[in-house]
Amino acid sequence: MLSKKYYLSILFSVFILIFWVNAKVLKIGVHRNAPVNKWIAPSYTDTLVSPILPEPIHLQNGKRIYAMECEVCHGKWGNGDGEAGFGLSVSPGDLNHKGVLAESDGSLFWKIYTGKKPMPSFNAKLDTTEIWQVVLYIRLVQSENQFKGSHKRKRKK
Ligand code: HEC
Repeated sequence: MLSKKYYLSILFSVFILIFWVNAKVLKIGVHRNAPVNKWIAPSYTDTLVSPILPEPIHLQNGKRIYAMECEVCHGKWGNGDGEAGFGLSVSPGDLNHKGVLAESDGSLFWKIYTGKKPMPSFNAKLDTTEIWQVVLYIRLVQSENQFKGSHKRKRKK
């Protein structure tokens, strides 16, 4: 006859196995680019509208600013794989996540303007036109990533 203890330890092992499989499937604690998005901009920011259009001159400047100020943490394609992004207390997340796609332009503008540690605020460094240029550039990158699959667009040296 097998003891009660034996059954309990089998039950326990099965339990652990189920938990482990679930954690793998649901990627609990292993997917560092999971949506951050607990950061919610005030609702009035949804009413902010960009005063500029995504014209080449603005997108080019947005790209230049992104490369200079943002890429180090957010990575070339916004996937959160910039070299400084890995060591932060909070992951920069993935700017191509559907949660960020669904955010208004005004919300992104406000987040870049305001910052949230460890992300710096840019209101002193960039003027409002420059911040809108970066927002428009992020929208361009997001749409390109939707098309190409952002996971295939790893950062190139
Ligand atoms: C020092 C690293 C760092 C730099 C530089 C940086 N960020 Fe961030 N960024 C972060 C982190 C970390 C978060 C997540 C903050 C949080 O949710 O607590 C974040 C969040 C964001 C978000 C919000 C994403 C969401 O979930 O809604 C946007 C948009 C963003 N950054 C854009 C930018 C832009 C544009 C620049 C450059 C002008 C920039 N960041 C520069 C680290 C950085």
